[in-house]
Amino acid sequence: MRADYASILADIATRIKQRDFPNARNADYIPALAAVPSDRFALVIRHVSGAEFAIGDADIAFSIQSVSKVFALVLALRSCGDDLWQAVRREPSGSAFNSLILLEQEEGIPRNPFINAGAIRVCDMISSRFANPDRSVAEFLGRLCTNPEIRTDNDVYLSEDQHGNRNRAIAYLMKSFGKLDNPVESVVRAYFKQCAIAMTARELARATLFLANQGVGIDGTQILSASEARRINALMLTCGMYDGVGDFAFSVGIPAKSGVGGAIIGVIPGEFSVCVWSPRLDGSGNSAPGIAALEMLTDAIGRSVF
Ligand code: DON
Repeated sequence: MRADYASILADIATRIKQRDFPNARNADYIPALAAVPSDRFALVIRHVSGAEFAIGDADIAFSIQSVSKVFALVLALRSCGDDLWQAVRREPSGSAFNSLILLEQEEGIPRNPFINAGAIRVCDMISSRFANPDRSVAEFLGRLCTNPEIRTDNDVYLSEDQHGNRNRAIAYLMKSFGKLDNPVESVVRAYFKQCAIAMTARELARATLFLANQGVGIDGTQILSASEARRINALMLTCGMYDGVGDFAFSVGIPAKSGVGGAIIGVIPGEFSVCVWSPRLDGSGNSAPGIAALEMLTDAIGRSVF
């Protein structure tokens, strides 16, 4: 029997509202993220049957930030196939998402596609294969959630660009090792634009469904093969929550990917995709209320991938 998702979500929203997250703060490296009201909260489940359950600010758009890295990876995989794994590895990094340390030690080959270095290299591969690399991830997301209006928020993009020297440093380091094919400035521009895409939690839950549904998207299109979808889920499980990935597997137990805008997408394969959004972040850059809500969800339904 299917869980009563509507009342589970209502209960989670009430409990999150009552809880304090004293050490959690909005990302403040750019004004557009610092200015989002901290009490925003949305939780959306898209079941493989087509049913959808939502609570809170499910239709307010926010900056998807690093959640975009999953969709950029899928887009690149669809055009490069397994050659992609020559350029990017598949191991957790155990360091901050924007760290340069391992990249120096490992001669410009990123640990995984979800740290900034890996995502920038994935952007580089997209730049070599798509006519409009600055727009290709947004267009792909638009197809996945069946809203062709999905766009980059230009103000967020301009701020990312202005505060982007660390990402430039990462890109130049890879370039110095001969591991970046395109000019640094054009690759980081595409990267900043994909981070600055604006979407709602409902749209992200819809866009993520194919990872719960053997590669099949909400409109019935085969986005990836079932085995490729399983592999993306394995990467999310091991690398999707940065330095908090072990705690997240322990307390929530589902493949997931976070962004500093406060969103987390996740899946229980064969059942549903989920997106939670709440802007206050913990020390690893993951939404603290978002993690708490997902823990309540897997507890309430008595399921995880374990
Ligand atoms: O590259 C950056 O620093 C940001 N635009 C994106 C980082 C991000 O979301 C990392 N996630 N937790």
